[in-house]
Amino acid sequence: MTVSMFDLKGAVALVTGAGSGIGRATAKALGAHGAKVAVTELAGRGDLTKSLVEELSGGGVEAMAISLDVRASMTISHVMSQVQLHFGTLDILVNNAGTQLFKAALDIDEEEFDEVMNVNLKGAFLCSQAAAAIMVDQKRGCIINVASQHGVVGNRMRAPYCASKGGLINLTRALAIEWAEFGIRVNAISPTFVENETNRHLIENSEFKQQIQQGVLLGRAATPTEVAAGICYLASPAAAMVTGHNLLIDGGWTAH
Ligand SMILES: NC(=O)c1ccc[n+]([C@@H]2O[C@H](COP(=O)([O-])OP(=O)(O)OC[C@H]3O[C@@H](n4cnc5c(N)ncnc54)[C@H](O)[C@@H]3O)[C@@H](O)[C@H]2O)c1
Repeated sequence: MTVSMFDLKGAVALVTGAGSGIGRATAKALGAHGAKVAVTELAGRGDLTKSLVEELSGGGVEAMAISLDVRASMTISHVMSQVQLHFGTLDILVNNAGTQLFKAALDIDEEEFDEVMNVNLKGAFLCSQAAAAIMVDQKRGCIINVASQHGVVGNRMRAPYCASKGGLINLTRALAIEWAEFGIRVNAISPTFVENETNRHLIENSEFKQQIQQGVLLGRAATPTEVAAGICYLASPAAAMVTGHNLLIDGGWTAH
């Protein structure tokens, strides 16, 4: 085992929803391992990817920012082509864009259910399909779906989220089966609670803190960097024999 097994020099990666949290940390980690990085974000959050590109470029990483709403099926292929045109290839896709709904199942309406599924599951499928169209011609590629511990086990107040992430984990297996012959590996990564700007107030709430301390064997939420480390592994030559896998970064949440 050498350090170069984790080297991504020459690879081109696209990370969706990269403005903050896990996506932002992933773009930085992939860049630090030598990849060129395209970061996408909702148009209204373009200032975040713009500042990320500045940060990456300042560190010597080739980077570009593009607007992408993963619900906008008509624009997804165009975005993938833009990346291929700019960098010459597309080797790694990280389907990170995601949304959350914290609501009792009896109160959830159809629109709310569809919104979670459209972003977390259908969006990841459409992005994978558009990226794979490029990867098939290259005869190589790697897709990483950011799922969740809540795709493996259920939890209260999160029915559509659990369904979408469970679907994403099994979509990962189905695509891994279909696309292995083209040299495309498809894997999922399933974090426990990860602290970010949006949920920090929740994680600091004492009831939630107690849930984390009791449920996560390691007694704390994960950091975006700890999830990014797993993504870098799955993207790297070190994981050349890994496909159809769901890598839990859950501190033991699903072990009991
Ligand atoms: N934070 C957690 O506790 C946690 C735990 C497990 C899994 N995850 C998953 O990790 C991923 C990243 O979440 P995060 O914690 O970094 O939160 P985050 O809110 O920082 O990141 C989510 C990103 O997705 C983007 N996004 C939302 N809807 C989109 C759309 N329609 N099109 C394109 N982008 C869209 C957001 O703008 C945001 O940048 C998500 O898929 C989330 O479900 C998060």
